[in-house]
Amino acid sequence: MTQALSKHAVVAVIGAGAMGAGIAQVAAFGGHPVKLLDNRPGAAAQAIEGIRARFEKMAARGKISPEAATAAGARLQAVAQLVDLFDAALVVEAIVENLQVKQTLFKALETVVSEGCILASNTSSISITAIGAALTGPQRLAGLHFFNPAPLMALVEVVSGLATAPEVAGTLYDTALAWGKTPVHARSTPGFIVNRVARPYYAEALRVLTEGGADCATLDACCREAGAFRMGPFELMDMIGHDVNFAVTSSVWRAFFNDPRFLPSLIQQDLVDAGFLGKKSSRGFYNYQEGASKPQPVTVPALARPHDIVLYGQSAAAQALALRLQANGVGFTRTQAMGTTTLATAGAASLRITDGRTATRCAFDSQTPNTVLVDLALDYQTATRLAVSVATQCDDRAANCAIGLLQAAGFAVSQLQDIPGLIVMRTVAMLANEAADAVNQGVCDATAVDTAMRLGVNYPCGPLAWANSIGLAHVSTVLGHLAQTYGEDRYRTSPLIQHHVFAAKDFS
Ligand code: NAI
Repeated sequence: MTQALSKHAVVAVIGAGAMGAGIAQVAAFGGHPVKLLDNRPGAAAQAIEGIRARFEKMAARGKISPEAATAAGARLQAVAQLVDLFDAALVVEAIVENLQVKQTLFKALETVVSEGCILASNTSSISITAIGAALTGPQRLAGLHFFNPAPLMALVEVVSGLATAPEVAGTLYDTALAWGKTPVHARSTPGFIVNRVARPYYAEALRVLTEGGADCATLDACCREAGAFRMGPFELMDMIGHDVNFAVTSSVWRAFFNDPRFLPSLIQQDLVDAGFLGKKSSRGFYNYQEGASKPQPVTVPALARPHDIVLYGQSAAAQALALRLQANGVGFTRTQAMGTTTLATAGAASLRITDGRTATRCAFDSQTPNTVLVDLALDYQTATRLAVSVATQCDDRAANCAIGLLQAAGFAVSQLQDIPGLIVMRTVAMLANEAADAVNQGVCDATAVDTAMRLGVNYPCGPLAWANSIGLAHVSTVLGHLAQTYGEDRYRTSPLIQHHVFAAKDFS
């Protein structure tokens, strides 16, 4: 059993930049005396002024009492030299992202702090095992990975290197909890949890864009309005900055010995080469210059309501369609028809949820030329937009009936080119695949990965819980079809998903 550090224990933070200042704020707010050190003269004192101003703002807004704000501010002290950290019980390093520089710092720290002092790095991409290799006592080093902005983001990844003592990780976990954070344990592997499992959110969208599936605004809208993601992948990459996002992707890819799962995109390389870094340079996928207007998603104009709608089975999508059509006063019939993957028919059209094949292949395989595929939505009852793809064999009248049905149910419809897995389904399947591999490879447990993705990158649902609700057999089919279509190892199905399908289990 471990426990959180006592509130009297001194916490030292090295690096008073965006992250270090945020972490110092969290520790001081958590009740600890905090020493802040930066090798840029005046930087620590300036950061402390900023933190005190934030505490005062919180008091002004009634979130804390004025006394609490003053007391928390008074717990912060700027120090100038490493030796000033002699009495620290925990040192959190948030300096430049460079292995040698971090190793040098921790080696120097070992000569200053007491034997029981825990050393932690806020690194987001450097191996904790590698940093620890330079230390006499690597067992006392762990990762304590906060997310930006640290005072607001609840998630903290507690990262254990090969030599990290379990009690050290346990104490950090308990301490982060005591600070009001939601910690998760992770093993030190490239990208830890969040920066690894999030890769497909960007990678699949970039792949669909590369293949001309749709434009950025349409794909972003589908991810927001059907996937319930807070931001679409392109607007999110523009916000993060392509230099940063491309560097993370490339470093995870290299760290996994060029595993095609993580293959970076030439589109993003081009943006970086061009200096189109996103919002910060006023140009990325979108144009942020003054006067520039944001492109709108492509939406099929309103079509006639079909008269002969039949809904099949009891899937979540069929149930939601029934409720939405009913609410809009649109007539339909239902059939329980067992063993069919048809979601609905309207006129001559047959609608199905995508299973990772193209609509054209589905039409061919099922001998149903008038096939229209519908994308995944997190919740078909509340989604406002759906992506569809139409088989090459499908005649226009049938396609219009299918789209008209979805419009009659109140969806804005975006017709994508006939790419496999549409956008939300292939993205979520690949997020779940990566999450499952992280669990299968002992990086973390299933609860941790879902918590990490909800709190670290604000996903509307953990990828494994989402895969459970889609059905692991369907997720596995989607991945299998993507692998078949592309013939790339990138889409190989996680052994854990395969196992769970055969064992009729899921991740709950
Ligand atoms: P930053 O550039 O804003 O701040 C770094 C600070 O460290 C600077 O004030 C610099 O003067 C100081 N510094 C550099 N070398 C030093 C040394 N040897 N001794 C003392 N001070 C030194 O960087 P940021 O963004 O705060 O990142 C810090 C660390 O946190 C990096 O390891 C980064 O990968 C990690 N991180 C960053 C996140 C982000 O979104 N910015 C998120 C999570 C982790």
